[in-house]
Amino acid sequence: MTTALARLLGVRLPLIQAPMAGVQGSDLALAVSAAGALGSLPCAMLGADALRGELQRIAAVPGAVVNLNFFCHRPPAPDAQRDAAWRDRLAPFYRDAGLDPAMPWPPATRAPFDSQTADLIEVFRPRVVSFHFGLPDPALLARLRGWGARILSSATTVEEGLWLQEQGVDGVIAQGLEAGGHRGMFLTEDTTTQLGTFALVPQLVRRLQVPVIAAGGIADAQGVAAAMALGASGVQVGTAYLLCPEAGTSALHRAALQSPQSASTALTNVFTGRPARSIVNRAVRGLGPISPAAPAFPQAAAGIGPLRARAEAAGSADFSPLWAGQNVSGCKAVPAAEITQALARGLPPSAPDAA
Ligand SMILES: Cc1cc2nc3c(=O)[nH]c(=O)nc-3n(C[C@H](O)[C@H](O)[C@H](O)COP(=O)(O)O)c2cc1C
Repeated sequence: MTTALARLLGVRLPLIQAPMAGVQGSDLALAVSAAGALGSLPCAMLGADALRGELQRIAAVPGAVVNLNFFCHRPPAPDAQRDAAWRDRLAPFYRDAGLDPAMPWPPATRAPFDSQTADLIEVFRPRVVSFHFGLPDPALLARLRGWGARILSSATTVEEGLWLQEQGVDGVIAQGLEAGGHRGMFLTEDTTTQLGTFALVPQLVRRLQVPVIAAGGIADAQGVAAAMALGASGVQVGTAYLLCPEAGTSALHRAALQSPQSASTALTNVFTGRPARSIVNRAVRGLGPISPAAPAFPQAAAGIGPLRARAEAAGSADFSPLWAGQNVSGCKAVPAAEITQALARGLPPSAPDAA
């Protein structure tokens, strides 16, 4: 026996390993899936070949259930004026790094879910698909539902939760302000009115009929128990998995997570153009944390790219997005199964499969 949410998602435990684009792939997802929770594959930064390769790896593991996660932003129209303003803002940092401020930028790599991607994943018929930044067009959602996929998406306000429910999602991830990575916000751009996890979860639970999954700042069994006590049907955890050997977190990112620097995180738009929570580093301090000059998501990343590459080659994380939530206390360099089992101990007895 298991909980209704776990049954809906096709797993044993009502726990989800948060998709974390750029820092993990199928290794982490499969390790979490083998431990009985829902592992996630972040797809926003994967090209078609890389995505197909990851899906083939997952398909080769009998019984593995993995959530596929996509972004669904509208790519911005080219905006030369805004790019030029960003160039001006970055110029002193380029010069300081010995780079030409006029050098060409690499392309920004975060792409939204589209019909070609739907064609690609349809072959694999994933059981769970989750979205960040709202939902794709209804026609695309209908295709996913056509093979019975369960649909999840993040809400950062009660209004967003109600909107997602109206669109027929199967569950809403309540992403509190503490969460690492991008805010999933899509009906507001106002970061000052975003809610903390323990304010957001009970309000969504009261207003929604679909299951609410708590995310943001939850790092151990007590956090899981507290979220479930507030009425959450499950919990999604990201940051606590970042030091696992199965994660692809870079050495610089791992070092920052284990340093006193990790006590200071901030919402910043300087890495991509959208607010996201990162450990504060030189880029966040020097350019933001919120810069009005940053081009729209994901174009800001293009200008930061050369600075990041130069700094990382010299062993510095000054310009790297060091995504992390406010609570890094659960980060341990242990196998993901151990983190999952520790989190599962916080599930109430009504989730009897908790290890
Ligand atoms: C490194 C990192 C990358 C993330 N990337 C994504 C992503 O690609 N898609 C997504 O839906 N959420 C992403 N998130 C947000 C998570 O889904 C989730 O909201 C968050 O991890 C929960 O808070 P916590 O980090 O405090 O556990 C990311 C979070 C982190 C820490």
